[in-house]
Amino acid sequence: MHAARGSCCRIRRMDSSRGHRLPSLCAPPVFLFILAASNLVTFFVFSSTFSFSSSGCSASSYFTSPLTAGAAAGDGATVTAQVERASPAADLPPESLAFTAPQSFPFGRNPNSQSDVLIAPVGHPCELFPAELSRFMTYPVNGSCPDDEFEAQRLLLKGCEPLPRRRCRPAAHADFVEPAALPESLWLTPPDSSVVWTAYTCKNYACLIERKNQKDFDDCKDCFDLEGREKSRWVVPSDNPLDFSIDEVLRLKPPGTVRIGLDIGGGSGTFAVRMKERNVTVVTTSMNLNGPFNSFIAARGVIPLYLSISQRLPIFDNTLDVVHSMHVISNWIPDTLFHFIFFDIYRVLRPGGIFWLDHFFFVEEQMGKYVSMIDSVGFRRLKWVVGRKLDRGPELKEMYISAVLEKPLKNSW
Ligand SMILES: *[C@@H]1O[C@H](CO)[C@@H](O)[C@H](O)[C@H]1NC(C)=O
Ligand SMILES: *[C@@H]1O[C@H](CO)[C@@H](O)[C@H](O)[C@H]1NC(C)=O
Repeated sequence: MHAARGSCCRIRRMDSSRGHRLPSLCAPPVFLFILAASNLVTFFVFSSTFSFSSSGCSASSYFTSPLTAGAAAGDGATVTAQVERASPAADLPPESLAFTAPQSFPFGRNPNSQSDVLIAPVGHPCELFPAELSRFMTYPVNGSCPDDEFEAQRLLLKGCEPLPRRRCRPAAHADFVEPAALPESLWLTPPDSSVVWTAYTCKNYACLIERKNQKDFDDCKDCFDLEGREKSRWVVPSDNPLDFSIDEVLRLKPPGTVRIGLDIGGGSGTFAVRMKERNVTVVTTSMNLNGPFNSFIAARGVIPLYLSISQRLPIFDNTLDVVHSMHVISNWIPDTLFHFIFFDIYRVLRPGGIFWLDHFFFVEEQMGKYVSMIDSVGFRRLKWVVGRKLDRGPELKEMYISAVLEKPLKNSW
């Protein structure tokens, strides 16, 4: 199966910190195109069932040997995903194939893609999880999709991102009503009927709001209470130097020049709402980790983007005035991915754009590593505050950095 390796173009990647070397892989140009098109920051663990006989080598790189995901991630983890399939395509449902199989353009060769066929992207790790992928792609065509948000998100978070498209109608609440009107909608708890609750422990907003009083961990657990902490975030002056206010950050730039932006991992969308109140358009990326974050953000009247931290931002180079991220970008992210994320943020910011890194947390001994990683990207520090994170006790030696980093207006390249 690996006969083709090395006979076409080669891709090698050295992890500078550990010297892991991935096998060189057969990668015909069209395959590189798929890789680029499928927007994967995640690692060069190739899985493909596409066959390109025209390129003079078969790119069907079915896995026949253990694949060390940890090595690919450069973190030395021991996770080993062993996938052995003689004929992977045959295991997948027809809809899976229907979506991913190369499809001929109706008018022949397409000048933009320089190809006769269009190949729709899915995350290349999708095929590492054939059982989950099969379940996801098994549904009545033209009919109702299964109510499977929980499984779909799990598949996505494993790396199958983007998920394949489906030809079915997503589950929706039977009593959906028109949303509240702007601007009231920005600070209104939406009706329970705006959410399909199947994927979450809570089955209504009263439960989500009450969650702030519970002991169990939940992502952003006080974020659904719009009368609570959300109300003061970024607007009420704080004596903690790590808490910047939106207005003080906007004052770092000429008035009105911060117009469009992105909030990465923006919880329930309050940052975007506060920015909207200042006439700044912000899109919020969020997953739905045990809560209907995307539905909630949308119900408030700002745009949710269902995107994990792993994926390349679907935004062009040098475009955004501001990127903000609180808590999400932290030390749980593998180092190599962390470095890629910072470069991706730098990429989408326009020259002179600002990255507000809000409460980035880590432990004290990691400080040097993170500071040199952040500094390697090319930002200029407009604000930089380092402080202790004490909520779990001082003995853990946890730290925060809050910073406003500017992409240089000149010579940013
Ligand atoms: C779904 O709809 C399309 C378009 O009308 C049709 O061609 C196809 O046969 C339908 N498929 C099924 C399984 O009903
Ligand atoms: C936002 O824009 C509207 C319409 O142009 C304007 O009336 C309003 O004063 C602006 N608000 C802020 C906070 O700049």
